Amino acid sequence: MTTKMAASIVEHGEDAFRKLFKFYKRRNPPPDFSEVIDFSKNLKSEAVFVSQLNPGSVSEEEVYRVGLKPVKDWRAYGLKGYPGFLFISNPFLPGSQQYWVKQCLKVYPQKPNVCNLDMHMPSAETENIWEKSADIIRKKGSGKREPKTLLEKLRWVTLGYHYNWDSKTYSADHYTPFPMDLHSLSDKVAAACGFPGFNAEAGILNFYRSDSSLGIHVDESELDHSQPLLSFSFGQTAVFLLGGTKREEPATPMFMRSGDIMVMSGFSRLLYHAVPCIVPSTTLPSCLEQQLQKESQPDGLSLEVSQQDWEICSKYLLTSRVNMTVRQVLGPGQSFPSAQTPKDPLCESKGGYHESSEEETQKNKRWKSESEYEGDS
Ligand code: OGA
Ligand code: MN
Repeated sequence: MTTKMAASIVEHGEDAFRKLFKFYKRRNPPPDFSEVIDFSKNLKSEAVFVSQLNPGSVSEEEVYRVGLKPVKDWRAYGLKGYPGFLFISNPFLPGSQQYWVKQCLKVYPQKPNVCNLDMHMPSAETENIWEKSADIIRKKGSGKREPKTLLEKLRWVTLGYHYNWDSKTYSADHYTPFPMDLHSLSDKVAAACGFPGFNAEAGILNFYRSDSSLGIHVDESELDHSQPLLSFSFGQTAVFLLGGTKREEPATPMFMRSGDIMVMSGFSRLLYHAVPCIVPSTTLPSCLEQQLQKESQPDGLSLEVSQQDWEICSKYLLTSRVNMTVRQVLGPGQSFPSAQTPKDPLCESKGGYHESSEEETQKNKRWKSESEYEGDS
């Protein structure tokens, strides 16, 4: 029935992206995913081409330390019509994604990093999110009645220059050290993709439950756009929509699976994009069942995750997706303007509308309930 549907929606509407977003956001009955590009499969899509990376840019030793395969073994793709866009199909070594998942759930939400819960809770309550949630999650059945733990209420965490959702800016005054391990992962990936000078300065982690979505937006608040935006996906599969330079232009749907990395650079750095849905599933992606091969790192990072911690992470990921986006905010030698002039409120930028039907929390614009969303965006 619907193979033609996505296409016909795109042909007609004035606002093709919005219609496509609604098409994939629909839950009952679930949408037809047959038009969604799947980079993990043998690709039939004419829009996709293999992209050559530079294996000499980062040593095997260096990428091994952050849990990645040698660059020569990465499968990277480009999309016709989207110069500067790169899709790297899960380049992580078996068993090493678990480390990054654990960092996202246990370590990065810790103070001084900032999370959505800080917006409407006293700081004492948002301390030790992991410790306050782990035992409860461990003992939980699949019954949906039980109250949500803090970890399950987590929607976003900001790192480095903390993004201000209201003013849509970063500022020099609101900075805490960017995690060294994620900085290291990011500069290896950026270097392999031709951006050796990349400096991870800001991060936004997004936590998706099975009914979450992320509205149509552009990431343009960074002061320098010559460096790429990196995106890492873990856990459940999502549909990602990559659009044009105008909100009305149609979009290309693709699956983002656990371990996949997206690089948005050049022309594609400022394209509209969105995550309309998480693909329904009741199992963990098989790559997250794999074991770490060996742990013989003489110094530096240990990618090992304790069985106890993984028990919580894997249970959480049965119904969730975690995404890390990493950004360089300032160009070389650049600094923030001394008096921050407020942005024109009519000028559209990262709404970052993280939507969820169940959850409607604070004043924060990123959050909208389903009913509020209808007819909007
Ligand atoms: C973002 C973003 C996409 C994703 O945080 O700006 O676009 O895959 N995230 O979660
Ligand atoms: Mn984005």
